[in-house]
Amino acid sequence: MAQAIGVDVGGTSIKAAVVDTLSGELRSERVQAATPAQATPDEVVEIVAALVAELQTGSGELPVGVALPSVVIDGITKSAANIHASWIGHPAAAHFSQALCRPVTLINDADAAGWAESISGSAKGQRGLTVVTTLGTGIGSALIYDDMLIPGSELGHLEIDGHPDYERFASSVARERDGLDYAEWGIRLTRFYQTLEHLLSPSLFVVGGGISSVADQFLHLIDVETPLVAARFHEHAGIVGAAGYALAHREV
Ligand code: BGC
Repeated sequence: MAQAIGVDVGGTSIKAAVVDTLSGELRSERVQAATPAQATPDEVVEIVAALVAELQTGSGELPVGVALPSVVIDGITKSAANIHASWIGHPAAAHFSQALCRPVTLINDADAAGWAESISGSAKGQRGLTVVTTLGTGIGSALIYDDMLIPGSELGHLEIDGHPDYERFASSVARERDGLDYAEWGIRLTRFYQTLEHLLSPSLFVVGGGISSVADQFLHLIDVETPLVAARFHEHAGIVGAAGYALAHREV
């Protein structure tokens, strides 16, 4: 059995589905709920428990993985972007595991996207360093070397051209906020990907996030030498990656 439940905690909604972790396909409907305004640990855990209960098929308990917009080390959330500050230093894996009555595996949302793209998406079989980025409320990053995820990179926070936290200048939300057309956004994105190219010499860039479903509108406007492709999983990457990561790291 290669199925697991993946949950993605985002800035506006919390989504979950049963995933076939080999193909990356969803094996259930996608259930979701609005992210509460504060998004404290108690509020988020309660919603996740309800969504997982909705998905449970009765055919035994599936492993659960949760993707969060936070640095996660040893089950502790170390940062909080677009969720409540009380996540910082929170024993989140233990909190979820207790509420769901089973071990729950946590992963950063962009690392989840990277995992999904590496196992069954646009970076499958890729040698060398792949940098997967997610363009959304922020800019998330995942580093994959051959098939190995190197977790915890936070490249959206680089200072570039005097912008101290570049995701605030070049994320998808920043594009909407500043009313940029794709050509104008492409200039900001080019500076971002060129900086990563100079620092990391990757073999491949994968561009993800919900906006990647219209990648044909803007990918060609990003001027870099490294091959750059759209993600396969778009807005489902967090769900697919969290499920796959949970199955690969479950306690037996
Ligand atoms: C956070 C990352 C997250 C990214 C995308 C950033 O602000 O620091 O941890 O992966 O947003 O949600």
